[in-house]
Amino acid sequence: MAAKPKGLARLLRKLDSISTRLGMRLKRRYLLALGQTAIAADASVSWSANINLRWSSSGGTVLKIGGRTKIRENTYLSTRGGSITIGKRCTVNPFCVMLAEGPITIGDDVIIGHSSSVIAFDHRFDDPETPIAQQGDIAKPTTIEDNVWIGAGARILGGVTIGRGAIVAAGSVVTKPVPAGAIVGGVPAKVLRNRLPQPPASPED
Ligand SMILES: CC(C)(COP(=O)(O)OP(=O)(O)OC[C@H]1O[C@@H](n2cnc3c(N)ncnc32)[C@H](O)[C@@H]1OP(=O)(O)O)[C@@H](O)C(=O)NCCC(=O)NCCS
Repeated sequence: MAAKPKGLARLLRKLDSISTRLGMRLKRRYLLALGQTAIAADASVSWSANINLRWSSSGGTVLKIGGRTKIRENTYLSTRGGSITIGKRCTVNPFCVMLAEGPITIGDDVIIGHSSSVIAFDHRFDDPETPIAQQGDIAKPTTIEDNVWIGAGARILGGVTIGRGAIVAAGSVVTKPVPAGAIVGGVPAKVLRNRLPQPPASPED
């Protein structure tokens, strides 16, 4: 059984949870004032401290989270004018970053290992005479389908779809679509093998 925190540790934990709740309450009040329903999270969602949201100026729901999903500590969810939708029974482990200039859509039963990123945009860089920072961004819709496992420290780049049941090895950089059931790994990520039963070979093979 885990030891109960004592004295100062207990007080610090209490203060942290109070400030988190206060932060959420203040943000909600601000959003109500704007007439937005920005967050649609099921009551069973478990939130941890330090989740940061940047709201869309156009209004509407920018963050949707399904039932029994867990968002762990120090995850940074930034909607950047896009939207983030996370399905049911997912786990987003600590220190993940999601930047949703294009929409980020995550299905049900997805596990995202700690320190991973989903980056749904690129900076424009076509004009060599203008600083990249002044050229604007390209939104890139990015999708992770049901039952995907993303290993720790992976980078999922914009415009990619990771098919249902796929696995992304730890530390991979995913730059291309991943077929359903594939295990991919490396930089850039390549198919290592397929975990789904393959159809029987046809007589011509
Ligand atoms: C992807 C993974 C599940 C594969 O497991 P596995 O099937 O047992 O893989 P193996 O160890 O048998 O390796 C198979 C091949 O994949 C390669 N590979 C494994 N992990 C890799 C990685 N992270 N990056 C690149 N290649 C990798 C191996 O080098 C091996 O290549 P080879 O056949 O040319 O020698 C595992 O390596 C992994 O990355 N797990 C993620 C752990 C994690 O992040 N946990 C956090 C919990 S949410």
